[in-house]
Amino acid sequence: MYVGIPKEIQNSETRVAATPDSVKKMSERGFNVIIESSAGYHSHFTDEAYMQAGADIVDNSDAMSADVVFKINKPDVKEIDRMKKGSVLLSFLDVCNDDGTFDRLADAGVNSVALEMIPRISRAQGMDALSSQANIAGYRAALEAASLYTRFLPMMMTSAGSAKPAKTVVLGAGVAGLQAIATARRLGARVYAYDVRPEVKEQVESLGAKFIELKVSGDGSGEGGYAKALDANDQQLQQELLAQELRSFDIIISTAMIPCMNAPVLITEDAVKGMRQGSVIIDMAAASGGNCPLTVADQTIVKHGVIICGITNYPALMPGDASTFYSRNLTNLLFQMINESNDRPVFKDYGQDEIMQLSMITCEGTVCYERRS
Ligand SMILES: NC(=O)c1ccc[n+]([C@@H]2O[C@H](COP(=O)([O-])OP(=O)(O)OC[C@H]3O[C@@H](n4cnc5c(N)ncnc54)[C@H](O)[C@@H]3O)[C@@H](O)[C@H]2O)c1
Repeated sequence: MYVGIPKEIQNSETRVAATPDSVKKMSERGFNVIIESSAGYHSHFTDEAYMQAGADIVDNSDAMSADVVFKINKPDVKEIDRMKKGSVLLSFLDVCNDDGTFDRLADAGVNSVALEMIPRISRAQGMDALSSQANIAGYRAALEAASLYTRFLPMMMTSAGSAKPAKTVVLGAGVAGLQAIATARRLGARVYAYDVRPEVKEQVESLGAKFIELKVSGDGSGEGGYAKALDANDQQLQQELLAQELRSFDIIISTAMIPCMNAPVLITEDAVKGMRQGSVIIDMAAASGGNCPLTVADQTIVKHGVIICGITNYPALMPGDASTFYSRNLTNLLFQMINESNDRPVFKDYGQDEIMQLSMITCEGTVCYERRS
């Protein structure tokens, strides 16, 4: 069975869907791995390293026409044209913003699995690429905050005087938020956090941050560890209460999101106006509209004296580890889809598996995904 790894073509993407370590594991399990020439270039994995791990170097057409294709970003029309009927695609598929890709994959007879739909359950942890990448994003976002802030994060006492620690707040304490809290703490900032789900308070405090409680009446806890949207009254109350809190912070890292919805607005323009000159907002929700309406996706701007950063692909800024974690997620997923027969991998009836039922988008010529939000 051939596993193909094409080079990612999306602008600014630097990750690769398989590393030499994963290639070695797949080769040992009897897969023939073929990888597009220089697919690992930006993440510093050379063609030679892939060949030593057992892969053959091929062009894009060959990689896309394998039995199983590993990708990071959803395939475009040309890539889908190269895929073969009955093949399996493992990739993020931007499920909330389908632009016709599902129908094209179904028409091409490609069975596709959307990595973002892997449920956050214990058995699927090793395949949870959304979490592995969000973890990296949270870490990298805290570094971005430190580099954009024109002052120290830790308290500093020098012969030229002392500097106060940066007061930092993380809005949304999910996967990315918790990692941002931990990283900002390691950098010496005084860290606070707020989330609409009260159950994360303990996790926030276990990382040494203070939890901010707002008197918003509705419970924001939804299903599967995600939040649900607040009603309009609570949303407005939340924005007003946050605006009072936020003016005392030097750095805001905002990660609030609800799956398949526009990001909730937590930092209004008035709140930004109330912040000190030179404060920093890292809006990690920039790709889904932003937690601040002033955020511009993929730009860093200064508005009302506040630096607002809208980077949308933090994992691509750390492609070494981002690719390593992602490729482990994909190989774990692939291995749970197969059995060995005469020492060769063959697909088992994976369609009955709970993880697959939740994450398969196209199955044998049809779109089998039902939007669940
Ligand atoms: N820019 C990037 O490169 C990058 C990479 C990964 C993730 N992200 C983004 O980071 C964000 C977080 O991702 P995640 O995987 O940590 O998601 P997550 O679901 O684990 O965390 C989101 C958190 O936001 C909270 N939340 C939702 N609505 C809220 C509200 N109104 N007020 C306060 N908190 C609220 C939720 O309770 C949850 O804890 C998402 O927007 C995601 O798209 C960005």
